Amino acid sequence: MFNVKTYNNINKVGLQELGDNFQVDAKDSENPDAFIIRSQNLHNVDFPANLKAIARAGAGTNNIPIDKATEKGIVVFNTPGANANAVKEAVLTSLLLASRDYLSANAWANTLRGEDVPKQIEAGKFQFAGSEIYGKTLGVIGLGAIGARVANDARRLGMNVLGYDPYVSIDTAWSISSHVKRIKDLKELFANSDFVTIHVPLTVDTKHTFNNETFSQMKKGVTIINFARVELVDNEALFKAIEDGIIKRYITDFGTEELLNKDKVTVFPHIGGSTAEAELNCAIMASRTIRNFMETGEIKNSVNFPNIQQLLDAPYRITLINKNIPNIVAKISTAVSELGINIDNIINRSKGDYAYTLLDLDESDRVKIENLYKAFKDDKDIISVRLIENKNLG
Ligand SMILES: NC(=O)c1ccc[n+]([C@@H]2O[C@H](COP(=O)([O-])OP(=O)(O)OC[C@H]3O[C@@H](n4cnc5c(N)ncnc54)[C@H](O)[C@@H]3O)[C@@H](O)[C@H]2O)c1
Repeated sequence: MFNVKTYNNINKVGLQELGDNFQVDAKDSENPDAFIIRSQNLHNVDFPANLKAIARAGAGTNNIPIDKATEKGIVVFNTPGANANAVKEAVLTSLLLASRDYLSANAWANTLRGEDVPKQIEAGKFQFAGSEIYGKTLGVIGLGAIGARVANDARRLGMNVLGYDPYVSIDTAWSISSHVKRIKDLKELFANSDFVTIHVPLTVDTKHTFNNETFSQMKKGVTIINFARVELVDNEALFKAIEDGIIKRYITDFGTEELLNKDKVTVFPHIGGSTAEAELNCAIMASRTIRNFMETGEIKNSVNFPNIQQLLDAPYRITLINKNIPNIVAKISTAVSELGINIDNIINRSKGDYAYTLLDLDESDRVKIENLYKAFKDDKDIISVRLIENKNLG
């Protein structure tokens, strides 16, 4: 039986996907095998000794100390795409909100009093005449799960769409409409866009993508939409660009004190992915990912270890998280052969300083297998070891 600890109210129906081999938030379990979290900040949390996996029900993983997890052999997963439709709908809403200033119009209408409100409305509505998004140009930075959907649907709404993503995945690239013009240079995107929306992870490269220099490359009157992360924008530069008339409106899903109650800035309280459907999708995906990893050792959608999938046909599988150093595979194979065990299959893939190894063993003698497990446990180049018995073999 595996133990899972959840944080942040993970959808219960989604958690059922863990199946019968899992206990969730059991009172007597202080040493869980896995966490399933949403936005819980784990930077100051001591990882329990048994912890093998963390699944983030969502896309961004800035709330998890990835390097620390990797060093301890903890595999961190996310649920790419599970809330993409929800965020896409929020971004499309923002495009439309920015084009017509509906929020100010509604606030003004609520200030009116008296029997002649209809007359006051007709007299005052001119101040809220907006423009349409049809025929305007949208620049999309980052064509992943969210950006690709935004780009395709903005096309359907009649916009010209420019897309920039030097690292786009093959799968996503196939899903993007051929009418979305791929741009190689951000300057060109900035120079031609009436609206710019950003859908990239926060990294050292993407921090402050919007800064004094890039704002100066933009069309006057541009609307910026940021449903990705607050740090992608240099707020000082943003305020200056608003003052200089470059930015017509900034709509973001991330509030900091300096952004609140500012003219031409609309802040939403991180609700992009907050729909019942997205929360369910994320919980289902996170639960299936943890179940598959714990029961088979396969890795899919990890942010710190390579993807490895291999059907388990042998009686036993040992999974290793090891240092990515020369001759490690030879050393592992030697340890197996020294115990007279036959290898059915071995896959070793590395990511950075660490690697993950799936070792399928054609051996049913439990004592031999446990000796091998112990040998790996004692090896200083191996960070963590798991033994999985194939219960499906007769
Ligand atoms: N507001 C919310 O509630 C909410 C919800 C989900 C995700 N997000 C944010 O949105 C981001 C995107 O989510 P996603 O599901 O589309 O992720 P994703 O991984 O599917 O897509 C990210 C894309 O960004 C691209 N990219 C990376 N670096 C880039 C760069 N320097 N320039 C251009 N493109 C670059 C990648 O190639 C990838 O295609 C997440 O990282 C997260 O920060 C916010």
